[in-house]
Amino acid sequence: MNPCTKIPRQDFLRYAGVGSASLLTAAVALRSSAQAAPGPRPERSAPNLEIELRPSPTEVSLLSGRPTRVWSYRGKVLAGDPSSLQALPGSYLGPIIRVRRGQSIRVHLINGIEQPTIIHWHGLHVPARMDGHPRYAIGPGQRFVYDFEVTNRAGTYWYHPHPDMLTGPQAYYGMAGLFLVSDNEERALNLPSGEYDVPLVIQDRTFDAGNQLIYLEGAGMIGQMIGFLGDRILVNGHPDFVLPVATRAYRLRLLNGSNSRIYKLAWSDGTPMTIIATDGGLLEHPVRRAYVTLAPAERVELWADFSRHQVGSELVLQSLPFSGTMSTGGMGGMMGGGMMGGGFSGGQALPDGAEFPVLTVRVARRETETRTLPARLSTFSRYRLEDAVNRDHPRRFYLAMQAMRWGINGREFQMTAVASDEIVKLGTQEVWELVNDASRAMMGAMAHPIHIHNLQFQVLARESTRDAEEASRTLGGGFLDGGWKDTVLVLPGQRVRLLLKFQDYTGLYLYHCHNLEHEDMGMMRNYLVQR
Ligand code: C2O
Ligand code: CU
Ligand code: CU
Repeated sequence: MNPCTKIPRQDFLRYAGVGSASLLTAAVALRSSAQAAPGPRPERSAPNLEIELRPSPTEVSLLSGRPTRVWSYRGKVLAGDPSSLQALPGSYLGPIIRVRRGQSIRVHLINGIEQPTIIHWHGLHVPARMDGHPRYAIGPGQRFVYDFEVTNRAGTYWYHPHPDMLTGPQAYYGMAGLFLVSDNEERALNLPSGEYDVPLVIQDRTFDAGNQLIYLEGAGMIGQMIGFLGDRILVNGHPDFVLPVATRAYRLRLLNGSNSRIYKLAWSDGTPMTIIATDGGLLEHPVRRAYVTLAPAERVELWADFSRHQVGSELVLQSLPFSGTMSTGGMGGMMGGGMMGGGFSGGQALPDGAEFPVLTVRVARRETETRTLPARLSTFSRYRLEDAVNRDHPRRFYLAMQAMRWGINGREFQMTAVASDEIVKLGTQEVWELVNDASRAMMGAMAHPIHIHNLQFQVLARESTRDAEEASRTLGGGFLDGGWKDTVLVLPGQRVRLLLKFQDYTGLYLYHCHNLEHEDMGMMRNYLVQR
C-alpha cells in the first residue's frame, strides 16, 4: 500500500490552488515519480513535428483592472512546420496544435508548475505509455517526452492535465488546449477554413474581487460532489466573448472545456443548429437540432451560415434551461434543489441548468458566399452488436455514490489497479453498459459525462427509466449519439450501451467521469487491454 491512501482524497484538493505547493502535493509527487520509471521508448521514425509544451504560472488580463494569475501551456515548435502551433494571444489556453493524420509527433512536456502533472491527449488513439496516465506524472522541473503517430480521423481533439487528484484544479487554472487533426477526406469537402474555421472553447470560472480565480473554496464536500460551477462564462479564455463574422458560412468547433457544467446550446433567433462533427470527427451527414447538449469534454462542430443576416445585427449562442440532472435520493438526498443555488460561491454561481448567454456573434461585414453545406460528410462503418464478444452479457458499469464518494461499480481509482472485470482482449469488440441507476441512489443521482481513453466508440442504445423523465425531456433532444464519441453523458435514470473496439495497443487505459471534481474524487478506473 502506498502511504497516501490514508489521506482522504478531498484533502488533496483543498491544497491544490495556484501557488500553494504543500506537503501533500509533494507527497503525490513522490508517489508519482516512484512509479514513473521510464520504460523503453518504442522505435519510431523521426518525427516530422517536434514541439515543447511548458505549463507555467503567468498572468493574463481577463477583466478590467488587475490581471489574473493562471497556469498556462507555453508552446514552442522545435522542428517542423511553425504554423503547427497557433497561440491564442491574451488567453490562458494553450496553443492550438494542428496536425495531419499520419504525422509522427514528438512533444516535450516540461513541468513549470509547483505540482506533479502530465498531459493527456483527449480523444487520441495512442500507445498506453503516451496517453498521459497519472502514473507517468512528473514533478516540478521534470521532462516527459511523448512520441506517437496521429492515427485519428480529422477532428477536434484536445489536451489537458491528468495527474491523480489534481486534474480539476490544473485544468481550471488554465491548462488546456485544442488538438486539431485534418485528413484527406475532410480536405476534399472544402469546408470553411482559415479565419472561417473558428475554435470556441467554453468554460465557466469564478473570480474574486481582485480578479483572481476561485476554485471550490468554501464549497466543501458538497461542492466537490456536485462539481465546480462558475458564475462567469468564458469563451477561448475571455468573458463576454464577441465573435465578429462576415455574411457567409463558418465552421465552428465547440469544446466544453468546463470542469463540470453541462450546456444546452441554441441560437437565440431559433435557427436550428447544424452539426457536422462530434468528438471523433465528421458525421456521415449534417444533422439539424433545436439545441445541442454539450457535457464536459464533449465537442461538436457546427456549420453556421450568416449569409442571410444584416450587417450590424447580432445573434447570441445561449445555453437554455434544463432540469433533472441532479435528482434527490431515496433518503431525502443531499443533492436536492435547495443546495444548488446557494450552497457555495456565496450564492453567486449560475446554478446547473440556468439560462445564460454564451457568446455573441456580431455580423460585421459583407461577403458573398458561394459555399454550400455538403450533403455527405464522411463514410464510416457502424459497429454491429453481433460482432461484440460479449453481445449477450454487456460489461456493466454502475455509476453511483458510496460513502460520500462517486465511484464506478463501487470502486474508486487506484493508480495501477485493475479488477478482473476490467480486462479486455486486444482485437475484440465489446458492448459496455453505463448504468446511472437513480432509483437505487440513496444520496441522489447526477448526470455523469463518462469518458473512455484510447478509442472512439459508438453509442448503441440509450434507455431511460421514469427517473430520467425530466432530464431526458429537457436535454435528450440534444444528444448526438450517431457520431464517433469518446465521452457520453449518462443522465440519472439512464443506461447507455456502447460498442467499442480495442485495437493496436495493449496496456492500462483509463475510463472515468469527466466531471473533473468527480474524477479527482476517484470516479475513475483503469481497464487493461491485453493480448
Ligand atoms: Cu479528457 Cu481522462 O480525460
Ligand atoms: Cu481522454
Ligand atoms: Cu460524475
